[in-house]
Amino acid sequence: MTTAETLIADSSERKRLSALPPLAYGRLRLPSRYLLSPLAGFTNLPFRRIVREIGGVGLGTTDLVNARGLMDRSSKSLYLIETCPEDRPFAVQLFGSDPVVMRDAAQFLEARGVDSVDINMGCPVQRITKVGAGASMMCHVDSTIELVRIVVESVKVPVTVKMRLGWDHTQLTAPTFAREFEQVGVAAVAIHGRTREQGFSGVVDRTGIRKVVEAVERIPVIGNGDIRTVADGERMFSETGCHGISMGRGALANPWIFRQFVEWETTGKYSPAGHFEDRLALLMRQFSYLEEQRGTDRAIVSFRKMAHWYLKAMCVSASLRSRMQSARTRLEFEAAVNEIAHRGPTRGTRTGLLPDLVIPVPAGPVEHW
Ligand SMILES: Cc1cc2nc3c(=O)[nH]c(=O)nc-3n(C[C@H](O)[C@H](O)[C@H](O)COP(=O)(O)O)c2cc1C
Repeated sequence: MTTAETLIADSSERKRLSALPPLAYGRLRLPSRYLLSPLAGFTNLPFRRIVREIGGVGLGTTDLVNARGLMDRSSKSLYLIETCPEDRPFAVQLFGSDPVVMRDAAQFLEARGVDSVDINMGCPVQRITKVGAGASMMCHVDSTIELVRIVVESVKVPVTVKMRLGWDHTQLTAPTFAREFEQVGVAAVAIHGRTREQGFSGVVDRTGIRKVVEAVERIPVIGNGDIRTVADGERMFSETGCHGISMGRGALANPWIFRQFVEWETTGKYSPAGHFEDRLALLMRQFSYLEEQRGTDRAIVSFRKMAHWYLKAMCVSASLRSRMQSARTRLEFEAAVNEIAHRGPTRGTRTGLLPDLVIPVPAGPVEHW
């Protein structure tokens, strides 16, 4: 990396942050205030490993895991909580509406050595909300607080909650919940600055996140939503007063984002995201981790979603993208990779800055996500 490529973004907000104590969930001190947000279907062990190898990640969390599935030892739930020594600190996100099952699942996770348990109160998908879990918990104040209290009291590891601003614009209950959660011992709350009704539409309401920050006394609040660049993160900190930020889609588009934030916080400068060649190497490494975990045939199919993000960010032509997506064997997969490597990006250069990726949002009614 040459100095000419270093990006400079110093500011008073950056200086304020660098003077703050490190982010901690109770006694669990996190290596940075830049966290990976759970993304079902993406934040599996192979992806967590590669973002951790790049550096800067304060905490990695699994996709949402069904607490009941975990207690039934379903193969999907057990796969989702797989981890490795490098995958630290590590949180598992649980969803469920039965306090006893949630308690048992949290205790099971603690016995398996997880660093923290997160409770999902933000998922808008009907499959989850119709069983009283995810965002629908924001409609039931007393039973939700009781469930969270039971989980907190059942384990020694820190318990956190991830939620939206509320069910809809008439019920912006996140500040009330955050205050109550703090009282029952929750170690931190993460807020996606939209309501369930909004899905992923509209813009993130940073004023709404600020109200949550103001509602609590001591626990950290993690601001989340639409952070794709260091400038976006800086704005989240300065407009909300939050203590940490989490990135989901921004990390898929740019797995270097956590390292960029840490560089920025400590020096006021940061290096650019990886170029075409870096991304190709990362793609192959992530695929090999997935292959290790799931075997070649399943890895080829389940990597398709992730490959889409890599290849779009690498400006690979549509025909080559579809060639990789339709590969069925290791040979076909390798042939597609070789062709992609041979042809290079359709725009920009192999080792220069690539144009920013336009980040898609899940489309259609939330019921279908
Ligand atoms: C495909 C997809 C899957 C998601 N899965 C989860 C999940 O399992 N648990 C959760 O709490 N949030 C989930 N989210 C929400 C994200 O964690 C995050 O709150 C949201 O995407 C906004 O942040 P971002 O703009 O950084 O992506 C998901 C979002 C997307 C797009």
